[in-house]
Amino acid sequence: MYTSEKEDIMSEKPKILAFAGSLRQESFNKKLVKIAVKGAQEAGGDVTYIDLRDYPLPVYDQEIEDKEGLPPNAIKIKELMWQHEGFLISCPEYNSSLSAVFKNTIDWASRQVNQEEVYLSCFIDKVVALMSASPGGLGGLRGLVHARAMFGNIYSLVLPKQKSISQADKAFTPEGNLKDAKQHEEILNLGKGLVEFLQKRKS
Ligand SMILES: Cc1cc2nc3c(=O)[nH]c(=O)nc-3n(C[C@H](O)[C@H](O)[C@H](O)COP(=O)(O)O)c2cc1C
Repeated sequence: MYTSEKEDIMSEKPKILAFAGSLRQESFNKKLVKIAVKGAQEAGGDVTYIDLRDYPLPVYDQEIEDKEGLPPNAIKIKELMWQHEGFLISCPEYNSSLSAVFKNTIDWASRQVNQEEVYLSCFIDKVVALMSASPGGLGGLRGLVHARAMFGNIYSLVLPKQKSISQADKAFTPEGNLKDAKQHEEILNLGKGLVEFLQKRKS
């Protein structure tokens, strides 16, 4: 690699894709991940926030894949994943595990567009920061155990720090901040920590 090319890559801002595993307009997890997005941007990250409602997908069915290939929205999500080095994700907890829309999105993204594509290429070496919010007392913590295991098994690196916000139905101000200043700072720091990790990895 020529020195100038290397300098270009090293001077690039870390690119981060952010989303919540919820479709709901008033989703607590969407609110939460948007705070982490601010933290990442303040730390110098180049963040793309997406709403999974804008990328509707059928429930994964191998017969659809065999007959029609990947749906256009699965390819769009894969392209976004390829373009970003880190993921900021807030995962709702459904029955102590992952929400269907989140798992379905990951399942479609894990499929190859064609034989030439390296299997799981949009997850390999991606750095993931996880968080969750729930009206319940554990804040969705149990779902993050499954999210962490899944990403580890598809060759992503999940940062040790995570945060779950309990009683999420009472936790946010109308402007979308967390009422508890310490919690708000911790979520900002999740975004910041991801940027700092990616910056260190580039140097
Ligand atoms: C099918 C279903 C299962 C749920 N299971 C859990 C659960 O295991 N733990 C929990 O804390 N909340 C659970 N909830 C409540 C969600 O945390 C709550 O609906 C939350 O608002 C979802 O996240 P969102 O606000 O980002 O959409 C469940 C909700 C649904 C619809």
